[in-house]
Amino acid sequence: MNTQHPPFFSAAFALSRRASVALAALSCGLAIAATPAPQELLAPDAGPRPTNPTTPTNPAALSSADLALLKTYLVLDFNNLYPYATPTLPVHYDAAVLNADNTPAGNRISNAGATLGRVLFNDKRLSTTNTVACASCHQQASGFTDPQRFSPGVVPGVLTSAHSMRLGNVRFYRAGSMFWDKRAPTLEFQATQPIQNPHEMGFDAAHGGVAALITKMQSLPYYPVLFKWVYGSTTITEAKIQTALAQFERSMIAADSRWDAGYAKVYNAQLPDKGLSLAVPTLTAQENRGRQLFILPPNQGGVGCAGCHQPPTFSLNANSLSNGLDAGNTVIFKSPSLKNVGLDKAFMHDGRFSTLEQVVDHYDRGVKAGPALDNRLKTPAGQPRVLNLSAADKAALVAFMKTLTDTGFLTDARFSNPFNP
Ligand code: HEC
Ligand code: HEC
Repeated sequence: MNTQHPPFFSAAFALSRRASVALAALSCGLAIAATPAPQELLAPDAGPRPTNPTTPTNPAALSSADLALLKTYLVLDFNNLYPYATPTLPVHYDAAVLNADNTPAGNRISNAGATLGRVLFNDKRLSTTNTVACASCHQQASGFTDPQRFSPGVVPGVLTSAHSMRLGNVRFYRAGSMFWDKRAPTLEFQATQPIQNPHEMGFDAAHGGVAALITKMQSLPYYPVLFKWVYGSTTITEAKIQTALAQFERSMIAADSRWDAGYAKVYNAQLPDKGLSLAVPTLTAQENRGRQLFILPPNQGGVGCAGCHQPPTFSLNANSLSNGLDAGNTVIFKSPSLKNVGLDKAFMHDGRFSTLEQVVDHYDRGVKAGPALDNRLKTPAGQPRVLNLSAADKAALVAFMKTLTDTGFLTDARFSNPFNP
């Protein structure tokens, strides 16, 4: 995806923090019971569910002829879909987490819609060369990113200009804007951008755009059947491709790391910090030290990483400004959720760091001044903050970030390639 970032800076950046706070305070449209913490998204007691105009909850059953046709392409069990619409979440994915859900009222997840999204996500035929799928750059085994710094697409020898992004918990970024520089307004809009990128999946204007892809998809036997099943009509549109892909991506919730399992034991909805500052019994002393540093604010002995990378999803706070990678920086980047960050091999939008140790060194003494630098990374006098962490504390921060790996997520059949080998 193109990282020729449009010149972004104006006085607007100064306002963006306040604007984001206001946005975060808005209701997301989900009626959520404050207590007890719901353990399921859209649990039955969560109030009336908005009807999804495009993907019905109970699509008509497929005919046996259609099932036989689909079986020649896909390993899916259409009579027993995975419950994408009602994931079971740990207790600490509570009302505050659900309030950060960026699901639009018009695109609630349905099991059939997310299943179609899974097919689309893994289909190399969505590229001009039949060689590149979303899953080529967003690999499940790596937390849906590419461990390589830059990724190959349809043009031999040409790589992406930005590092691929992990997709776990992409749902819990309330602002909903996508890409490192937030240039895509929604997950739905984002979904067909890589398809049209000349270097990624290749259906740019010179190759007929999305219209050419749709013509191709209509001629593949399984898509008319699948679209009729999900949307009631064999007609394929860009909007339908977008809604199905976004449903599948929103179902990718990484909530079962070692830290999650341990925190669930000390989570307490009644405490002001919900138990986040308590030692996690299942982590080592070093990991707990890293947890303290990461989660506690500077005035409580920590270094305040969690002010931006918010537990329990470790998605970026929508009010985060720049983290000071480059002097004079004016672009405000986001970060994907840090769940599974320990599997990556390249960090930041341009993949400039190849280890988590280098990331920690950046926050320790590498933060650069600039007009967009976030106050949380400044001294009271407005200078870039220097932490002067000991070697042991740096290692502890890295050890803690590695506890955020959700190994079950990496092999969960719900998110795997559904095509026959
Ligand atoms: C050739 C590699 C490649 C392919 C193919 C690809 N992506 Fe990406 N993806 C990237 C890169 C690189 C970024 C970051 C780009 C940027 O910010 O400019 C990204 C970013 C994203 C993001 C933004 C995540 C966030 O938190 O903001 C989403 C969502 C996404 N891709 C979904 C998809 C989907 C869906 C497809 C298939 C239709 C796809 N990608 C195909 C490489 C790829
Ligand atoms: C002011 C908000 C803020 C604070 C505080 C902050 N970060 Fe970040 N972090 C960011 C932003 C923004 C990015 C993405 C920057 C980019 O790619 O240009 C990021 C990126 C990262 C990444 C790379 C993510 C990836 O997928 O490549 C890691 C790891 C990370 N931060 C860890 C930390 C640690 C550890 C701390 C505490 C020492 C910390 N952060 C404090 C805002 C913050």
